[in-house]
Amino acid sequence: MTWLITGGAGYIGAHVVHSMRAAGEQALVYDDLSTGAAERVPSGVELVVGSTLDRALLDRTLARHRVTGVIHLAAKKQVGESVEQPMRYYHENVEGLRVLLEAVTEAGVHSFVFSSSAAVYGMPDIDLVTEDAPCVPISPYGETKLAGEWLVRATGRATGLRTASLRYFNVAGAATPELADTGVFNLVPMVFEKLTNGAAPRVFGADYPTPDGTCVRDYIHVADLAEAHVAAAQRLAGAQPGKDLTLNIGRGVGVSVREMIDLISEEAGYDCDPEVAERRPGDPARIVASADRIATELGWTAKRDVREMVSSAWAGWGGSRSSGA
Ligand code: WQD
Repeated sequence: MTWLITGGAGYIGAHVVHSMRAAGEQALVYDDLSTGAAERVPSGVELVVGSTLDRALLDRTLARHRVTGVIHLAAKKQVGESVEQPMRYYHENVEGLRVLLEAVTEAGVHSFVFSSSAAVYGMPDIDLVTEDAPCVPISPYGETKLAGEWLVRATGRATGLRTASLRYFNVAGAATPELADTGVFNLVPMVFEKLTNGAAPRVFGADYPTPDGTCVRDYIHVADLAEAHVAAAQRLAGAQPGKDLTLNIGRGVGVSVREMIDLISEEAGYDCDPEVAERRPGDPARIVASADRIATELGWTAKRDVREMVSSAWAGWGGSRSSGA
């Protein structure tokens, strides 16, 4: 099998490349480098620089490398930005996927793993979110991921393409410092930034109906997430690929914003007194995965805890700042 990994120069994609190679799979990367970095692609792995909207380049790449499977991570992923630029998000995330699927099915690729998100659920009012929970996304980003799942599933049914959609919960950490997230868009790096600037981390809302009043999330180590992709890819390529696999990737463990900030300051060695700020619009009080289906379907469960996520992210934070990345 040769796997094309779109978005493989990004934070999550580079971890997927790393885990696929560690599992003995052939991989090449397809990335437009809009947010990815060529340095994240290991030597020995070919990088094709281009967009999934570029049908001609896709056709050439799939044929030249005799690609048999695709793991599609390339997408825009900032919720706030998607509210401001919905047409751009639909274009890149949905039209980019449609063009890719057209190329994939015509090239005879047989397996397709799609990067989806817990954002498809919106504001679920249940303790542990199973894959059968209603999908009511509340941002254009979440809508594009849900529409993407529909398109992937419909294409699988119509053409026989073997498909899996993986719904990521809150991803954090790094397998090695060089692979760390360089963006400052999520809780862990946002707290690092405040601490290292001598400022107080901010808690967006402390009056939620949760045990300590702050939002509860299901944090998942990016290395565990990457291994879930390997398990999904190998399942699709095997004798029993399943039908329309749609799987949460989480730990099934809720951690509050306050607990995370305490852990982050402890690991980073800072004393801090977080500042309580306004609620951020659109934040669900609690969203935690039921991780049962993926355990049953793929035999995958997360191995790394929140402390490992924070300490590995912190090691990467220091490295990326000192190298000027
Ligand atoms: C986590 C919690 C914030 C920063 C997003 C997307 C989701 C998925 C994962 C891609 C929230 C709070 C944050 C800060 C804070 N993305 N917070 N102070 O919003 O749960 O999930 O990323 O698929 O679709 O929505 O992640 O890391 O932004 O926030 O209090 O300085 O931390 O309000 O409760 P979120 P996040």
